[in-house]
Amino acid sequence: MKKWKLGLLTAVLALSMTACSAKETAAPEATPTPTPAAEATATPAPTPEPTATPEPTKEPIVVTETFQSLFGKYDIKAGTCLSDFMISNKKCNQIITEQFNSITFENHLKPEAVLNHQESVAAGDLVVKFNNTTLSLLEWCKENNMAVRGHTIIWHSQTPDWIFYEDFDTKKDLVSRDVMLARMESYIKQTFEKLDELGYLEMFYAYDVVNEAWMEDGSKRDSLWLKTIGDDYLWQAFYFADKYAPEYIDLYYNDYNEQFKTLTLYNFIQTLVDEDGNYLIDGVGFQAHLYTEDNLETYFTTLEKIGSLGLKVCLTELDVSLGTWQNVKMATEDNLKAQGRYYYNLINGILQRVEEGKVKMDSLTVWGFADNLSWRKERSPLFYNMLYQPKYSFYGALQMKEHAGFAEE
Ligand code: GLA
Repeated sequence: MKKWKLGLLTAVLALSMTACSAKETAAPEATPTPTPAAEATATPAPTPEPTATPEPTKEPIVVTETFQSLFGKYDIKAGTCLSDFMISNKKCNQIITEQFNSITFENHLKPEAVLNHQESVAAGDLVVKFNNTTLSLLEWCKENNMAVRGHTIIWHSQTPDWIFYEDFDTKKDLVSRDVMLARMESYIKQTFEKLDELGYLEMFYAYDVVNEAWMEDGSKRDSLWLKTIGDDYLWQAFYFADKYAPEYIDLYYNDYNEQFKTLTLYNFIQTLVDEDGNYLIDGVGFQAHLYTEDNLETYFTTLEKIGSLGLKVCLTELDVSLGTWQNVKMATEDNLKAQGRYYYNLINGILQRVEEGKVKMDSLTVWGFADNLSWRKERSPLFYNMLYQPKYSFYGALQMKEHAGFAEE
């Protein structure tokens, strides 16, 4: 069941906006950004961000919306990723419960977190077992009445190699296609079964069945899933997920550099059908790891193209770094203002398209909220600075244009 928290918070927040006209940024090259997965393995340490932050209070800014109240007007849940640090920190708790009503675990539902080697060896089958951190995050979501996006089952990264080998021993041979298909089925089945047994399944409304399987040149990413099962492994994953997930959980394919993979994804999604031609998939997740100089019109074209397939299209890991991926910019006042404007225009364009019925989106998830907790903290991609004060980007995303870095304050 979808669990909603609808709430409207009126907060008075203070921020000074230094008067200084912002430079318009140049149009981007249509070049793929580097693989997020390659850069991100461990959860980032919550260290302070050494970049520019808003200056002392000038005049209080009255904020009458939260992300959940604004997006809620469009039937879109407002999401953030969640880590064990965040649930143990009072300020993070306060921000998350005020601003968001959907959660994606940053790391603790990934294959390496849920597949247990010792128990798999003992059982002679892959065994899903949630560790204490995963359990405490699940419990936190339940206590705080959060809706949850599951992330992720089949992925090339943060996945232990031993799952692909005979006797779960990497010194032995890779298993046959049939064995790996049986392991895949068991893994997917247990994911839903065990969440159900623990009483958490009903919090889930979406699940990323497969993450990052396609390359920008239109080829399938090389992985041990592809190597052991073969070309149809993606179809098989969705077939099993469709078989074992309850109806109320939407099944997603999730990827990054979506604006450079549009046609590949458009063609691929149409292959995910059963023998009667019905979709085995419900939605496409756009990670949206963007830069302030990425072209927004290209992005909206991708949204509409994939949206035209009739499935949901959701932003699943949004963050907007400063500059371009080849040339990351410093967190100067001007660049932070450019980021505020970018967030304003991005969210504005999305909400407009949702309203016009061009895109079916039921959640928009940001990959965190405070720069110092981000996997890309050196690129200042989020809404709050290291003191958890709102940046121009916060006001931009909230559609408070007058504070989003457009005009001189
Ligand atoms: C990818 C993954 C996420 C996360 C980010 C980096 O986008 O889908 O789970 O690992 O990389 O944090």
